[in-house]
Amino acid sequence: MDSLLITGGNRLKGTISVNGSKNAALPIMAASILTEGETVLKGVPQLEDIRHLSALLEKLGVNVSRDEKGGLHLKVEDEMNCHAEYELVRKMRASVCVMGPLLAKRRRAQVSLPGGCNIGDRPVDLHIQGFQCLGAESDLVGGDIHLKAKKLKGTEMFLGGPFGSTVLGTANVLMAATLAEGTTVIESAACEPEVIDLANYLNACGARIVGQGTPRITVEGVKELHGCEHTVIPDRIEAGTFMMAAAITNGDVIINNCRLDHLMAVVDRLRAVGVNVERKGDGVQVSSSRRLEPVSVTTQPYPGFPTDLQAQIMALLCLADGNSIITEKIFPDRFVHVAELNRMGARLRKEGPTVIVEGVKNLVGAPVMASDLRASAALVVAGLVAKGKTKVSRVYHIDRGYERIEQRLATLGAEIQRVPE
Ligand code: EPZ
Repeated sequence: MDSLLITGGNRLKGTISVNGSKNAALPIMAASILTEGETVLKGVPQLEDIRHLSALLEKLGVNVSRDEKGGLHLKVEDEMNCHAEYELVRKMRASVCVMGPLLAKRRRAQVSLPGGCNIGDRPVDLHIQGFQCLGAESDLVGGDIHLKAKKLKGTEMFLGGPFGSTVLGTANVLMAATLAEGTTVIESAACEPEVIDLANYLNACGARIVGQGTPRITVEGVKELHGCEHTVIPDRIEAGTFMMAAAITNGDVIINNCRLDHLMAVVDRLRAVGVNVERKGDGVQVSSSRRLEPVSVTTQPYPGFPTDLQAQIMALLCLADGNSIITEKIFPDRFVHVAELNRMGARLRKEGPTVIVEGVKNLVGAPVMASDLRASAALVVAGLVAKGKTKVSRVYHIDRGYERIEQRLATLGAEIQRVPE
């Protein structure tokens, strides 16, 4: 397992470009199961999670290949296998997004139930509830969810849960509804840009979806979907992570291919901290040269502050001039980074779903380890400014969501290298 070795202290300067969104690409790749023709996806990053889903789709009869320009081609060749096995699902929870497409297209799905993970419980009850509303029968046998339906029928449904809307649940039910008979209305649908991108892809394949990006999505079922060419949206979480990296190092970085309109809650908090964030063409310039103000941050479903940037802004607020409060309202246990940041000299106190961040003057390099993708990203962000050397182990977590992070940060002047173990 590789590690990243970071020597903190360099101001990040220069230009960096954001990759296509992992969390938009994953459900769109799964949606290719629904289609008759070929899908060509542009901008899909080279990540572990993408490779895991590609392997699962291959098992489910989808031919997946990359062309020389990086375009990802997906074409269904065999519809026999409908079983997503534990071995693949346990590696990546997002594998559950094959449920909706398999059920709608092949009328049956057997998908291993993902367990919890390092960010807490990860139930799929709302996904199943949505499928049941569409007329599917479901059963849990040996840890696998079995779904079947002679046909799916459009209906009105409410998909909100105790923590609000569900991103992959909305994606799953939306995908299933595209081939259902009649009209489906999903109330309390997730409004995340990744759901909009999925709906736009499906519409380009012949689906009839309106309302994506609002809490009410309406789907007029169609008989079949064809392939299309689609470019996935820029990764707002990667962009946000680069923003935190620029801010924490008092840097001056232009981040290209960045949809600022997808990051307004993040920009709002960064400006409150005292970071300059200005639009620049299709990108954004982030600079900081003054002290950091403490702020409150509460994660919420989109358009609120994303849970996927909670760890990274916590790293930044460790150095604010006063006490900040961070409350996690999506995954109340998503705090594996707290103890690790404390090892680097942070003063963080967790009280339930809230962390009180007492600002300190410096962070100090240390060997650290995180068992969640965004938590690992936060440790890298902290390492960029910490005095001395930080060794972040278990880099495979970062590789799941950030392509060649060390090489890209190094182009901005960071002293960071990958150390094979
Ligand atoms: C997606 O996960 C993302 N993953 C996550 O990103 C992200 O943190 C999360 O949305 C929230 O924005 C992908 O897109 C692949 P949810 P998802 O269903 O869809 C509860 C990353 O780091 N819930 O929106 O699985 C759930 O427990 C990853 O890239 C139910 O109660 O998240 C949580 O409290 C990690 N029942 C809330 O809803 C359900 O059936 C939101 O979860 C489903 C979810």
